[in-house]
Order: sequence, then structure tokens, then C-alpha cells
Amino acid sequence: MKEIKIKGCSNDSSIFVGESLDNLSKYIGDRNSVIITDEKVSKLYGDRFPHSPVIQIGTGEKIKTMDTVLYILRKMVQCSCDRSTILIGIGGGIVTDIAGFAASLFMRGISFGFVSTTLLAQVDASCGGKNGVNLDGFKNMIGVFNQPEFVICDTSLLSTLPDREISCGFAEIIKHAAIFDSAMFKFLSENYKDALSLDKDIVDKLVYDSVVIKSNIVNQDETEQGVRKKLNFGHTYGHAIEKITDYNHGEAISIGMVIAAKASGISEAEDLSNLLQKYNLPVNIGKNIQITDALSKDKKRKSSTIDFVFLSKIGGCYVKNVIIDDVATYL
Ligand SMILES: NC(=O)c1ccc[n+]([C@@H]2O[C@H](COP(=O)([O-])OP(=O)(O)OC[C@H]3O[C@@H](n4cnc5c(N)ncnc54)[C@H](O)[C@@H]3O)[C@@H](O)[C@H]2O)c1
Ligand SMILES: [Zn+2]
Repeated sequence: MKEIKIKGCSNDSSIFVGESLDNLSKYIGDRNSVIITDEKVSKLYGDRFPHSPVIQIGTGEKIKTMDTVLYILRKMVQCSCDRSTILIGIGGGIVTDIAGFAASLFMRGISFGFVSTTLLAQVDASCGGKNGVNLDGFKNMIGVFNQPEFVICDTSLLSTLPDREISCGFAEIIKHAAIFDSAMFKFLSENYKDALSLDKDIVDKLVYDSVVIKSNIVNQDETEQGVRKKLNFGHTYGHAIEKITDYNHGEAISIGMVIAAKASGISEAEDLSNLLQKYNLPVNIGKNIQITDALSKDKKRKSSTIDFVFLSKIGGCYVKNVIIDDVATYL
């Protein structure tokens, strides 16, 4: 097991890669706790949860709303939660985004921790302190920066994850490599078969390397005033594609990264596309979809311009404020 630390403005976070769900009660100690999970995770792993009240929510991006947060908050009142309660989110990025937000609102904020059960949540969603929900279909419109006390990344839980969800997690790992680490990019390319078949050593290494990259960035710029914007590589298009197609998050940002790499004019754009395809990720939208409207509603928009992340090479990137109408021409 390896530990990575994030120093947040309000509190610090420890991320444990290779820790087991079975040790969760050690992190709760003698505090009262409440568990937020979704119905699938509860069915698969509920018998291994510590003895705490469990609040179960549905699945899918459509339930990532204020209504679900209010449902959780009301249940917490019914369960007599108070300021000393620690809230534990056990699930993928949808559960951790919602659970962290609910914990931040309940009685002006209580402690919270996560057991992230999808690859995407382990390498991205559960680490970094962004919590929130969608509003009227617009991604992550409401939310807070607040670090979980701890995150347990138990990679053995990934064995029950559908292949499609595994590939989506690799999309975020490939993003980290593409923008910051060319050696990791090479490693991903050389070891894709073992990675996809969830070889423990390979997956633990990739989850750890990804969390190190993300936490280094968050330690420099928790609230995304500068360098953290680089983590949005592929996400300007990705969020727009996610909104108007059936692609899920990782698939949408895979396509978004290819568009952004091509817009960057680097000769290695094709290498990125090839690597994403090795991980069974889509690299084209597939049909001619008008995404300009969806793009202009991106929350990172400042007037008619947008912060767009370009690659300088595989392993390096920069952010440039560009005119939205120009971004639409990158397609
Ligand atoms: N906060 C952040 O910084 C951040 C970063 C990236 C993504 N996100 C958010 O994360 C969300 C996507 O997260 P996700 O991809 O984990 O999706 P998800 O939470 O919907 O999980 C995907 C599916 O897998 C199921 N599942 C979870 N763990 C499982 C397991 N071990 N075995 C079998 N099935 C399992 C879930 O029930 C769900 O049906 C999006 O809403 C995205 O916006 C947030
Ligand atoms: Zn993402």
C-alpha cells in the first residue's frame, strides 16, 4: 500500500493506493458514520461494509442532481447524523462527487472519506477535492472544493467492473500521461494488454502514478486558478460530447482529447489516437453533431472566450484563452 498526501486550504487528504475496503473501519475509528453508495455497489460489496447506516442512491449521470443531494441530507437527519458524524462515499465518481458535496453542506460541513470503486474514480474523481452535481443537464454546475479526509483505492474491486468502465478509467490515465509524462505514455502503450486484463502490479502502478500527477497539480493550485486547468485537457469538447450523445465521461473525453491534440498541430496527435484505440476508446464522434451550443455553456467560459488546453508534445501542455467560435472550427 502507498500513501499520497494532498494539502488543501481547508483540510488535508490522504490517498491510499492498494488499501482494502475491508480495512475501512480503521479509518473511521470510533466515530459515528453514514455510508452513501449506489445500488450496484451495494449489491456487490455491501456485505463488506462496516456496520453503519447506508443511504443508497441510483446510478447514472442523471441522478447527479441537487434532488439526490437533498434526499441524502434528509436521510442523514432521519439517521440522527450530527457534526461529529463522518460520511463515507463508496462507489464510482458519481457517488463520490455527490457524497462529498452532501458532506460539505450537512451542518455547514462534516468530515468525509471515500472508497473509490471504479478506475475513473480512483485515478481522478475521488482525488482532488472537487465535489458537486449537475444543474439542468449542465455538468458540475454546482459544487465546492473540499478535500476528503481519506481515499481508499482498492484496485481488487475493479474486477467486477464492466470492460467499458475500465476503458473509461484508462482515458483519464492516458490524459495524465499525455499532458505530463511521456514515459508513462510509453508504458501504457507497451503494457496495454496486461493493463486491460487488470494485472495487479501494472494497475497499482498506473493508479499510483496517476494520483501522484493529479495530487502534485492540486497541491500547487487547489481551486483551479492556474496550473490545474491543464487537467481539463480534452474536457472542453468532452463535456459537450457527453451532454449531447450517449457516450459516458471517459469515452467523451477520449474523443475530446483527440480533437484537442489535432488542434494543437503536433505530429504525435496520431500516437494519442492510437493509444486510446488500444484501450478500446472511441476517437471520433461518429456522426456530424452540432456541439457549438453545448460548448458555449461550458462553465469555464469567460464571455465569448474559453480556456482551452493544447498539447505542446506528448508529456507537455499549455492553456490558452481562445474565442469559442474558433474552438468550434477545431472539429
Ligand atoms: N470530481 C472530480 O474531480 C471528477 C473527475 C472526473 C470525473 N468526475 C465525475 O465522475 C463521474 C463518473 O464516474 P465513474 O466513471 O466512476 O461513473 P459511475 O460512478 O457512474 O460508475 C460507473 C458504473 O459502475 C458501477 N460500479 C461502480 N463500482 C463498481 C465495481 N467495483 N464493480 C462493478 N460496477 C461498479 C456503478 O454503479 C455505475 O453503474 C462523472 O459524473 C464525472 O463528472 C469527477
Ligand atoms: Zn474527466
